[in-house]
Amino acid sequence: NWNMKNFIEDQVELIRKQVGDKKVLLALSGGVDSSVVAAMLIKAIGQQLVCVHVNHGLMRKNESEGVVKVFRDELHANLIYVDATERFLGKLDGVADPEEKRKIIGGEFIRVFEEEARKLEGIDFLGQGTIYPDIIESGTKTAKCVKSHHNVGGLPEDLQFELVEPLKQLFKDEVRACGIELGLPAEMVYRQPFPGPGLGVRCLGAITRDRLEALREADAILRDEFAKSGLDKTVWQYFVAIPDFKAVGVRDNARSMGYMAVIRAVNTIDAMTATIERIDYDLLERIADRITAEVTSINRVVYEITKKPVATIEFE
Ligand code: XMP
Repeated sequence: NWNMKNFIEDQVELIRKQVGDKKVLLALSGGVDSSVVAAMLIKAIGQQLVCVHVNHGLMRKNESEGVVKVFRDELHANLIYVDATERFLGKLDGVADPEEKRKIIGGEFIRVFEEEARKLEGIDFLGQGTIYPDIIESGTKTAKCVKSHHNVGGLPEDLQFELVEPLKQLFKDEVRACGIELGLPAEMVYRQPFPGPGLGVRCLGAITRDRLEALREADAILRDEFAKSGLDKTVWQYFVAIPDFKAVGVRDNARSMGYMAVIRAVNTIDAMTATIERIDYDLLERIADRITAEVTSINRVVYEITKKPVATIEFE
């Protein structure tokens, strides 16, 4: 009979048979799928797995640190951590067009990964967090985006590897159950969707470091308040975006210019349409108070109430 324990045992055996004594490379973003594949591969082949985590400088607060903590410190994975923040922010400097930003981030991601792959010797396989919906719905935006960012279709000819895709028969809820069974922390397995280009498409227009930092802090406060109120368990996606202009405010009895944090919290089944979470006003006010007190470059907080369509979930 089919259960998760048996599934994992079967996959572990299949992976060992496929890989033998060779090495597997994996781009570990810290998202649900790549994390679960990593945990599965660690169980199957341990040190024969080489994980590469590329921090593009557009991760949420403590996100890359969390990946290192779980995979290197707790699961003792062979993990290469690449801090490519300067490289990404340099390439993005002055670029305001959303599609251009996405192209730069996606392209640079593949180049950084490729450079790391070239430094390694004797890698024959590439692990991938392909799941069943990626295969059947490969025409939809979500699947396509997840693919374009993390898959290696973009790697050059001489860097083609045989794929190891142990999750390709699973639906998302099964992937999560698999992660839990493999011992991954619940926060990692039940985390909300996060776009590949990360905070890059939430720091609207041309990214500046001070606004990116304000965004990261404000987003962390929003997530903290959602976790405290239990909304993190029910709301599909919630985050902060910051437009590229300042508004007038008053701080310490003086006129001052500040950024505007835009909060978005939506519910959806398939990300093709989305409705608004009706957040309690007391909670909204608490979030606004905390953000403006703790992030002094922000002097306004607004709540976005547009459905998809006509809006999209992200702002860029
Ligand atoms: P939109 O903004 O199109 O987003 O309504 C739908 C869902 O897809 C996520 N998203 C992305 N995910 N790479 C990803 O991995 C991307 O480039 C990307 N763009 C949007 C978005 O967060 C939402 O969940």
